[in-house]
Amino acid sequence: MESQIIEIDGRSWQPESANAEWIAGLEAGKVLYFPHLAFEVSEAERRFLTPEARDPKARNISLDAQGKLKGAAGDELAQRELAAMIGRFRAQAQTLVDAILPRYSDALRLAPTSYRPMQVETRIQSVRADDRRMHFDAFPTRPTHGERILRVFTNVNPEGVPRVWRIGEPFETVARRFLPRAKPYVRWQAKVLHALHVTKSLRSEYDHLMGQLHDGMKADADYQRNGGQVTMPFPPGCVWICYADQAAHAVMSGQYMMEQTFHLPVAQQYDPESSPLAILTRLTGRKLV
Ligand code: SIN
Ligand code: FE
Repeated sequence: MESQIIEIDGRSWQPESANAEWIAGLEAGKVLYFPHLAFEVSEAERRFLTPEARDPKARNISLDAQGKLKGAAGDELAQRELAAMIGRFRAQAQTLVDAILPRYSDALRLAPTSYRPMQVETRIQSVRADDRRMHFDAFPTRPTHGERILRVFTNVNPEGVPRVWRIGEPFETVARRFLPRAKPYVRWQAKVLHALHVTKSLRSEYDHLMGQLHDGMKADADYQRNGGQVTMPFPPGCVWICYADQAAHAVMSGQYMMEQTFHLPVAQQYDPESSPLAILTRLTGRKLV
């Protein structure tokens, strides 16, 4: 399998210039890996590197696009400081994406930043929610209509523990394997789900197929074990970027990670033809949105 990881030696959140090979690789579903780009956690902020930073009633800690912190434990001052830490990562992730992907800048839509202090390997989950199985990101209740899901990750583990991912084959290879098993799209069902507010907007055929790929991959034990893949330990003090709706990925272990999501309309890509929407449109021969 051709390498799905592009290693980039930069140490600055603001690399001097964009690089055509990185851009084409990212848009082909590869992971851009910056082994020497560290998010600095201050001495005072180290107290947030505990699972107790999270409100036990919440699934995750996140900073929404308006800057409001959600899901955190602690008093007002602690919450303000935690919000500042997550906000600093957000700003650095934005700087990095603006520097290496300048064409995206005006069109990126900021989604929440999340901080995940829980240990990955001890979480017990349903097959569908289990991100230790390889998948493409697809949100069951939030249709994207093809809009992209770009994610910037950093491992902030203070004890040297890597965040271990598995990274699979290119999108089209995986899509060709699972598309024939996808249930057909039923428009009236999508309308009912929308009317009942199960989905936030009308689920397009694209969203349906992405959901089918996501579920089909996770449910297939043979694919999970034997499908083309590499194991990639991301050590503390590094950053990685990928299109999570296009790079087949799974997280196997680790603790303390931050992640920034951006959305981008397909038309704003350098090469819209490389998008999952374009690939699935070609493979099905139909308009999907
Ligand atoms: C995922 O997007 O599947 C989870 C990534 C992670 O927690 O490292
Ligand atoms: Fe994922």
